[in-house]
Amino acid sequence: MQIKIELGDITRSRTDAIVNAANSTLLGGGGVDGAIHRAAGPELLAECLHLRQTSLPDGLPPGQAVATGAGNLPCRWVIHTVGPNRYAGQRDPAVLESCFAESLRVAKELDAKSVAFPAIGGGVYGWSADAVAKAAASAVAAFTDPGSVAEIDFVLFNERMLEAFQRAFG
Ligand code: APR
Repeated sequence: MQIKIELGDITRSRTDAIVNAANSTLLGGGGVDGAIHRAAGPELLAECLHLRQTSLPDGLPPGQAVATGAGNLPCRWVIHTVGPNRYAGQRDPAVLESCFAESLRVAKELDAKSVAFPAIGGGVYGWSADAVAKAAASAVAAFTDPGSVAEIDFVLFNERMLEAFQRAFG
């Protein structure tokens, strides 16, 4: 398993799948969610809307993950996951770890060979850089039967998060 930790814009990642730090509505938002939808184009929102009208009428609960196509993005799939929102009182780090673990499980199910993650929960949802990095490292350590997944990239958007991930995976 190759792990890469780098600064970058995840909408430019050329991995098979990229993970979106979505909200439960799956209908877009700010941060990386907004960037991914902007870069993917309206097709991505249409796929998310279809999920809401069919298999996910109540939205995606925190800690779970679901895949769609990727519209105009260079990757093949977007795996949407919802971090626990600390400002809404969702403070269980196990749910944050589940975002990483469930996204890895979905990537394996897709037969993806590579997957890129942003720092789920590390922005609007208020988790510290160290908490996000520890949740990611714990999920990767537990991912002992990775199947097709041979590369995991963590694409971070600031030095503070980069350093936290380097510490956690050091
Ligand atoms: N590429 C990589 N990382 C990015 C990008 C990008 N283009 N844009 C932002 N980030 C980083 C942020 O700097 C942060 O470290 O992604 C991390 C996650 O931040 P958020 O996008 O705010 O995600 P989160 O904290 O999980 O909050 C989710 O915010 O955007 C809304 O709809 C979203 O309601 C949901 C909430």
